[in-house]
Amino acid sequence: MTAVADRYRALVAARELRPDRDQERAVADLDALARKLADAPAKGSILWRMLGKAEPPPAGLYMYGGVGRGKSMLMDLAFQRIAYEPKRRVHFHEFMAEVHARLRAERAKEEGDPIPAIAKGIAEEAKLLCFDELVVNNSADAMILSRLFTHLLDAGVTVIATSNRPPRDLYLGGLNRELFLPFIKLLEEKLTLVRLDGPVDYRLERLGGMPTWHVPNGPEATAALREAFFRLTDYPPEDSAHVPTEELAIPGGRTLHVPKSLKGVAVFSFKRLCGEPRGAADYLAIARHFHTVIIVGIPRLGPENRNEAARFVTLIDALYEQKVKLLAAADAEPDALYPAGDGAFEFARTASRLMEMRSADYLAKGHGAE
Ligand SMILES: Nc1ncnc2c1ncn2[C@@H]1O[C@H](COP(=O)(O)OP(=O)(O)OP(=O)(O)O)[C@@H](O)[C@H]1O
Ligand SMILES: [Mg+2]
Repeated sequence: MTAVADRYRALVAARELRPDRDQERAVADLDALARKLADAPAKGSILWRMLGKAEPPPAGLYMYGGVGRGKSMLMDLAFQRIAYEPKRRVHFHEFMAEVHARLRAERAKEEGDPIPAIAKGIAEEAKLLCFDELVVNNSADAMILSRLFTHLLDAGVTVIATSNRPPRDLYLGGLNRELFLPFIKLLEEKLTLVRLDGPVDYRLERLGGMPTWHVPNGPEATAALREAFFRLTDYPPEDSAHVPTEELAIPGGRTLHVPKSLKGVAVFSFKRLCGEPRGAADYLAIARHFHTVIIVGIPRLGPENRNEAARFVTLIDALYEQKVKLLAAADAEPDALYPAGDGAFEFARTASRLMEMRSADYLAKGHGAE
């Protein structure tokens, strides 16, 4: 069975993908994993426990490398093609937010170490867990990962992860990093590490030097942004009426409606993002969830728009800090967007960030990278 390779080769043959040696190697490893999963008895099942000596399910695979190399694309392909249930694909940041919520609930019960119970719950929900964009940048995550993953693997969970960094560079320079080292060891010893770092940043290539800030709003700008969206997501333009939407969870229990959301790319109107009462938590959730954000209908702002301007500043700060790629249609260049009004002086920093976000250097950075 070559579930992953067949599909990959078909996409290359159809010229949707260009041949890539690193990707072919990764596809072979993903196929090997798919075969092992197909052979394994239902993990954690009674049969599996009875056949005490049977091969445990494979721990999984960790793909790492520079941005736009096709890690998420290959993980999605594998996720679709590997017939193994129950399975789940989740953005790593959202998974960890969920883990902390479960930790709080378990701790409230005051029944000793909460990690085994949480791992058991997660393992019951998914035997194949795919994590996109694994990155560790806070000590709360760093301190629990080794134990959490040890329990998950013991429970027969198979993991596929993508990351911009090899395990040894995770949480580099982080507080109490020595307590994090067992997680690195676990990844290095148990998972198949696959480097995916060919010479081409395909995302950048798909943007093809196309401008990212379009002035003014209007049919030309709309057409250019549509084109960029379809190129970035491989979505057929003729089916544009059916682009998926998403309800993005905001910490604290609210959700945000995303009118177009596909493969880490979101489209919003300025009005929805900055014309309604929203705050840093919404913008941070967006910035962490999407690697590319397209904003349409940014108007020139006047003194009467001080609230919109303030929200826009918070939004751009969040996108900038998470290295999100921004494509936009606006009625003015960044430095003429908010010439007068409360906070117009401070807006200069936002304008400067917007300029930097158009640069090739910025566009080549990894999502969430330091
Ligand atoms: N071989 C290829 N030929 C053409 N396009 C490709 C190829 N591989 C990937 N792409 C496209 O390039 C874009 C970036 O790929 P992908 O999102 O998988 O990168 P990534 O490695 O996950 O990047 P990041 O580290 O930023 O998350 C996607 O639109 C994807 O479909
Ligand atoms: Mg990715």
